[in-house]
Amino acid sequence: MDFKLNDEQLMIQEMARKFAKSELEPYAAEWDEEAKFPRDAVMKMGELGMMGILMPKELGGAGLDMLSYALILEEISAGCASTGVTMSVQNSLFLGPILKYGTEEQKKKYIPDWAKGKKIGAFALSEADAGSDAANQRTTAVLDGDHYILNGSKNFITSGSVADGFIVFAMTDINKGHRGISAFIVENTFDGFQVGSIEKKLGIRGSPTTEIVLDGCKVPKENLMIGEGAGFKVAMGTLDSGRVGIATQALGIAKAAFEVAAQYANVRIAFGKPIGAFQGIQWKIADMATQIDAARMLVHRAAWLKDQGKPFSREGAMAKLFASEVSMNVTKEAIQVLGGYGYCKSHPVERFYRDAKITEIYEGTSEVQRIVIARDVMKQFS
Ligand code: CAA
Repeated sequence: MDFKLNDEQLMIQEMARKFAKSELEPYAAEWDEEAKFPRDAVMKMGELGMMGILMPKELGGAGLDMLSYALILEEISAGCASTGVTMSVQNSLFLGPILKYGTEEQKKKYIPDWAKGKKIGAFALSEADAGSDAANQRTTAVLDGDHYILNGSKNFITSGSVADGFIVFAMTDINKGHRGISAFIVENTFDGFQVGSIEKKLGIRGSPTTEIVLDGCKVPKENLMIGEGAGFKVAMGTLDSGRVGIATQALGIAKAAFEVAAQYANVRIAFGKPIGAFQGIQWKIADMATQIDAARMLVHRAAWLKDQGKPFSREGAMAKLFASEVSMNVTKEAIQVLGGYGYCKSHPVERFYRDAKITEIYEGTSEVQRIVIARDVMKQFS
């Protein structure tokens, strides 16, 4: 077992860290305050290959592996968690399923511009009554000549108002339950596509979350993925990878909060000493450091399994479950270390705390991750 990153991985990590420090971190508070999508930064990330990390080079991607993706995404999320989720959704939830399940035509049409970050991608699964119960889809898709006609609305869509392309799930046969769900590639220019209301949120405010309304939306039939009824497998298979991405985002947020807290503990004087000299603070620092290392190991294991072509659904869920809870705890403790300053916007830890919370919710709540893990564990003992 080798815990050491190789030279290429170290170089990639350093490149992402430098980018995050210079292009994201200085502006993240402003993007949060103004709920502003950082389009220019995302474009630059596209030019550097970060918006299509796992895509093959011949299709405009960076041709890297999942571990490299995790190394980059951790740094980006530490710099700006909103940009982190934009990158994660683009790579894992939009481009990922096209590469894995798309036809050759779909790959040629939809990978290059998105992999270069010229266009933004999103994933439209959730509905008002289909959150954790993702199979309970109410959006319908009916074949009419050369097009499917989609009707319904999608909720909580990350990048909804800025995305050019969406993976949309809809029922082609409402009587078949999850086996009646199909997946489509939908462009925001298609007739009948509309962006609905934009959510006002606690955190990741630089990443727009919107409703999507499909009102007789005309989707060319060649934009169906795999075949009718395969949509739930596309959704679940895609979310396996997405969850590793969100685990990494959570890890990046925790790392950023930890670094602020540890630096502060060295310089803040109370009772005549730096507060880091007191055991009460040392124990917090020790717990935070240990939890972050453990989260990173789970993330890297899940990424490594994917790179080996091995099953990683359980391990991805474990990484997301653990890293998101670590992120909540570390950001909470970072505020405690900074005291009153931690609670105010003059320091970034209150933003980290707000940003961390969603990692326990999207791409499957912690409760859903426990279901995924427990079902897989129980299979082993049946
Ligand atoms: N890969 C492939 N297929 C899978 C799978 C996987 N990981 N997991 C399940 N399946 C298959 C099963 O094998 C089964 O197939 P058959 O039809 O052949 O039997 C089928 O899917 C149904 O499986 P389940 O019976 O396990 O389905 P369920 O209805 O009990 O649901 C669940 C299970 C885990 C709770 C699932 O509904 C789920 O993951 N819910 C959470 C949804 C979610 O994560 N939403 C996130 C929205 S996207 C988002 O947040 C993105 C964003 O913008 C940031």
